[in-house]
Amino acid sequence: MIGGTGLDHFALTEQRIIRVETPYGPVEPMVGKLANRELVFMSRHGRDHVIPPHLVNYRANIWALHELGVRKILATAAVGSLSKDYRLGELVLFDQFLDFTKSRPLTFYEGGQQGVLHVDMTEPYCSAVRQVIIKASKQLGFAVKNGACYVCTEGPRFETPAEIRMFQLLGADVVGMTSVPEVVLARELGMCYASIGMVTNEAAGIASHRLSHTEVMESIKNLENKVAQLIQATVERWSSSQDCLCVSANVEVGKF
Ligand code: HPA
Repeated sequence: MIGGTGLDHFALTEQRIIRVETPYGPVEPMVGKLANRELVFMSRHGRDHVIPPHLVNYRANIWALHELGVRKILATAAVGSLSKDYRLGELVLFDQFLDFTKSRPLTFYEGGQQGVLHVDMTEPYCSAVRQVIIKASKQLGFAVKNGACYVCTEGPRFETPAEIRMFQLLGADVVGMTSVPEVVLARELGMCYASIGMVTNEAAGIASHRLSHTEVMESIKNLENKVAQLIQATVERWSSSQDCLCVSANVEVGKF
């Protein structure tokens, strides 16, 4: 699991923090059990929310998860809404993204010895994992929308209303700052990845007020419990098999 803003901690049984060395630097995730399954929990912004979106060491995080044997990633992400179809307090599963990041390392495949990989992004977010989340949500009686186009901005600032109008024209439904390159790197290593989006605010210019991090955090507080229940129910239904194409994404180079 990769916990986004507001989900810096997650209670696991038998939990302990470990250190994993990666070519991109060390990572200190938590390992433990949930629903009697072994789980790794990683806080995207650090345990004390000190790492802004553009400085998250995405490559180290994903590399460490892969190194630990993780093959399926369930992430959470706070998002602003660009459309009346995605309302404050709703949960959504992304199915597409638009990448408007600017300064982040985007790949493990840097050429030379590491090779070159043009990884397929036809279906960036694993549909098999999304199905499991949807089944879990039905069991809990939670409404979760399956499918939303996520536009990833560089941050850490919020967008201008003009940018939001442009993203609406391009077909984006929700906006956030972290799904890219996380989802891409997971696919490059053949891992399944799905993300639960928490709609924390209306995007800039749609909201009748200015945006603030406090507003986002307050919305998350109201959703925390629901998301934790959804994660628990999803993990209970988890199967270790990968019934999807994610695993074969890197066979062309087959390096890692
Ligand atoms: N913009 C970008 N990222 C966000 C937002 C937003 O409005 N809300 C939560 N994360």
